[in-house]
Amino acid sequence: MDKQPQAAPPAGAAPLDILILAAGLGTRMRSATAKVLHELGGRPLIAHVCRTASALQKEQRPVYVVVGHQAEEVKRAVNEELGEGGAVFITQAEQRGTGDAVFAARDALAAANSTLLVLSGDVPLVRAETLGALVHQHRTHRGRGAAVTLLAVRLEDPTGYGRVIRDEEGRFLRIVEQKDATAEERQLNEINAGIYCFETRLLFPALERVKPENAQGEFYLTDVPGILRADGEDVSVYVHTDAREVSGINTRAELAEFERILRLRTLRSLMLNGGVTVIDPQHTYVSPDAQIGRDTVIYPNVHIEGRTTLGEGCRVGPGTRITNSRVGNGVHVKDHCVIVDSEIGDNCEVGPFAHLRMNARMEESAHVGNFVEVKKSRLGSRTKAMHLSYLGDAEIGERTNIGAGTVTCNYDGRQKHPTHIGDDVKIGSDTMLVAPVRVGSRSVTGAGSVVTEDVPSDTLVAGVPARVKKQLPREAGDEGPEGKDKEEVTTVAPGE
Ligand code: UD1
Ligand code: CA
Repeated sequence: MDKQPQAAPPAGAAPLDILILAAGLGTRMRSATAKVLHELGGRPLIAHVCRTASALQKEQRPVYVVVGHQAEEVKRAVNEELGEGGAVFITQAEQRGTGDAVFAARDALAAANSTLLVLSGDVPLVRAETLGALVHQHRTHRGRGAAVTLLAVRLEDPTGYGRVIRDEEGRFLRIVEQKDATAEERQLNEINAGIYCFETRLLFPALERVKPENAQGEFYLTDVPGILRADGEDVSVYVHTDAREVSGINTRAELAEFERILRLRTLRSLMLNGGVTVIDPQHTYVSPDAQIGRDTVIYPNVHIEGRTTLGEGCRVGPGTRITNSRVGNGVHVKDHCVIVDSEIGDNCEVGPFAHLRMNARMEESAHVGNFVEVKKSRLGSRTKAMHLSYLGDAEIGERTNIGAGTVTCNYDGRQKHPTHIGDDVKIGSDTMLVAPVRVGSRSVTGAGSVVTEDVPSDTLVAGVPARVKKQLPREAGDEGPEGKDKEEVTTVAPGE
């Protein structure tokens, strides 16, 4: 974990409010979806900023979010991150610029005697620590605090950003937007990151004086520091060194670049701190919210998404995707599996080409082989389904063998029905289990059986529809986990 950010106000300092601007369309994305909803590391941009803001807000005050374009969807994304009621939403009716966006929060904030930290919804990687340092500089500037402190950074290529203009002595004068800058000003490479601390009582009167007299006809928040400076107020500039961290995303090309940075950062931490082997980091995709145990080996083209957890000493073969699932220790997931919302116990084997979904559960040492789909079903410990099967809505006991081509016929066109299979059962190859149906422990179905009625324990059934052929003697060896060798493909012939 990062060091805890130092945002608690020093004695006597105004409390901190946080306002996130997220009402814009993001024209440069060329998308029908609002920019702040585009995903980075599997989460919307706005969710990243919200998480950072809430890490910083230690005073039980809400985080304010200005919404406008696709407001409902943006609110949903915020609520998903902060919880219902975790944010207070401000509506900016028309997107008339960043100054107008902050002005929309006037009723909510102008009377608060607070320090207002303004963040952009499109600057997702800024760290709470950096913001804490910005707030600290703002509050301690010249021993009495500044009217506004802006976060600036030097860029090799400052194109598109607002430039920080200083006088001969290096004191802040104003911010000039790219589109309004002279050729000379465009040469300056100190840029405004769009992250500021304002004294609320000074901010709103200054905002009232902002006019949309500029190349874009917008109300620029960036005019406020210049206005305050001209009034003789103290303007402070916090110059940050990590340009990447504080730069915004305006285009899909930048989004892809950030994705790469975040991804490599996640993998590096897994390798250096987590003891995970990543064979080819250039072609491995692990969510920043995933957890992976040490000595686990990840092959190329693996995607580990969402809040997946993987235990220690696992192997995940090439081309596999695991989403929001829990995987125990010592599990081998072979090539090209898709595992979604499922749970896999210790020492299980899965794949190649297996599909687990909708709360599929495999208990310890269970095996699922190639072209097996498991949906909303539980496989008990040491149970095996090695080839070409569909197991849906099924409860399967321990040490049972599911023969090749077995299908739980769980859907009658209207409803899904359950299948129950006991312990130490041998389901013959190509058995159709017409649900709802139960197969008792230690029973056997012949190859090609169509099981339409419940099968008691210790019984051999076969045929279409399956009929009882004989009672099976209970052998001592059948009970223990170390019982008879389990043939992978059960070959009892129909009618045997
Ligand atoms: C802004 C700054 C620029 C700075 C850059 C850093 C202004 C005028 N310019 O430019 O100096 O270098 O950020 O990334 O502020 N938004 C609203 N309502 C609006 C317009 C924008 O909520 O009416 C939100 C957007 O959703 C976005 C943020 O404000 O999250 C920034 O807006 P954007 O249009 O991206 O500003 P830039 O042109 O990048
Ligand atoms: Ca921007």
